[in-house]
Amino acid sequence: MSIPSFDSTTRRFAHDLVDFLFDHVERVDERPVVDWTPAEDLRRMVRLDLPHADGIELARLVAEKSIQLHHPSYMGHQVCPPSPIAILGDLLISTLNQSTAVSEMSPIGTVIEKEIVRWLATLAGYGEEAEGTMVSGGSAANLTALLAARAKRGSGAVLVSADTHYSMARAAAIMGLEDVVKIETDDHHRMSVNALARELAKRDRVMAIVATAGSTATGAFDDLEAIADLRDRHDTWLHVDSAHGASVLLSERLAPLAKGLHRADSLSWDPHKMLWMPVSLGAVLVRDGIWLRRAFQADAPYLFHAEREAENLGAMTIQCSKRADAIKLWLSLRMHGPRPFAEAIECVTDVTRYLYERVNEIEELEAMHEPELNIFCFRHRSGDEVNHAIREKLIRGGTAWITSTVLKGQRVLRVTMINPRTTRAHVDRMLEDVLRLAR
Ligand SMILES: Cc1ncc(COP(=O)(O)O)c(C=O)c1O
Repeated sequence: MSIPSFDSTTRRFAHDLVDFLFDHVERVDERPVVDWTPAEDLRRMVRLDLPHADGIELARLVAEKSIQLHHPSYMGHQVCPPSPIAILGDLLISTLNQSTAVSEMSPIGTVIEKEIVRWLATLAGYGEEAEGTMVSGGSAANLTALLAARAKRGSGAVLVSADTHYSMARAAAIMGLEDVVKIETDDHHRMSVNALARELAKRDRVMAIVATAGSTATGAFDDLEAIADLRDRHDTWLHVDSAHGASVLLSERLAPLAKGLHRADSLSWDPHKMLWMPVSLGAVLVRDGIWLRRAFQADAPYLFHAEREAENLGAMTIQCSKRADAIKLWLSLRMHGPRPFAEAIECVTDVTRYLYERVNEIEELEAMHEPELNIFCFRHRSGDEVNHAIREKLIRGGTAWITSTVLKGQRVLRVTMINPRTTRAHVDRMLEDVLRLAR
């Protein structure tokens, strides 16, 4: 048997699969957020030596045993229920399979990615010299940005917030940078500007300061203006990991949270978080794009031909085979514009605020911080073990899905509101479950 072709049988499967997926998402509220099944049982269900099966039955198995991100009681990590337009964009991308490292292999894919980079850069307040590429996500963006920083500054210490995402430490390890200094956070979980100033005063070779706009644990936004002032005074590089938070720039109301982002030398921005794109779609932007190009100078005459050199995105990225992922965001923007994203960001922020207010009203619960955006941590006052047990029982029961972390030494419950369909009623029900499971 040869590999399947674009014939009438596959076309039928395509139509049936689209119908199945729309039905699945439309009725997702009737399911548990996850149908908890031990890994051993799942392993048995997916064995490759099972007899051939019908495609829709296989899709049903995967759909039913997945965590249901489209469920309005999913309030876990920063992985979104993607927009259907972008999902269909993914189908378009896969079908055409344009690899965007080399422009002659992706003539329109390349210019679409450049158009999206330009759109993001303009929103970020960057000028014409800015360059960037779409990458697999925040981790790849952070690594890419540090490579650009090193291209300009040479090696040296990297000063990060104690709450920085772990990908920064990993990026430094990949680059062989050993001097990574964690700067303590203040009472609002922001990098302490005073502690950063003290650290800078002690050192003469700082390769980069890494600030965060929308931290993973609490969604906190560092004081970017104050940190950029310190960068100017000490002549170093400022990278802002705004993988989660940069999307606030689309909302007039929430944009002030990221005040000063335009002063960053580089930034990370994940449309697959707060712009409702399916994984993966991240972006890295560098204010003076020359340093991004310098970081990736390569000699590859079999690929990069002089004729279209300036067009090649591969000159600014780790990847060689590179999905034309920007197309799904471009399709969404061309069809509906940016307004739906802004409304969705405001909506999830408001529901998070409601959760915060409810937690403050309930004696047994304690808010760990005031949420700025859509991430919020709270705890049951009974202690670490009870909080751990609540979360475990909750996600196994499937009525809601939240996560947990450790904040200043305490086990806490952590919520990311990332489904614009999540209402106050879903929040109330989740809190009822939390209180019930604590008993
Ligand atoms: C602030 C921040 N940076 C980076 C990342 C990593 O992004 P990705 O998972 O897309 O690699 C995350 C993920 O949660 C994040 O919250």
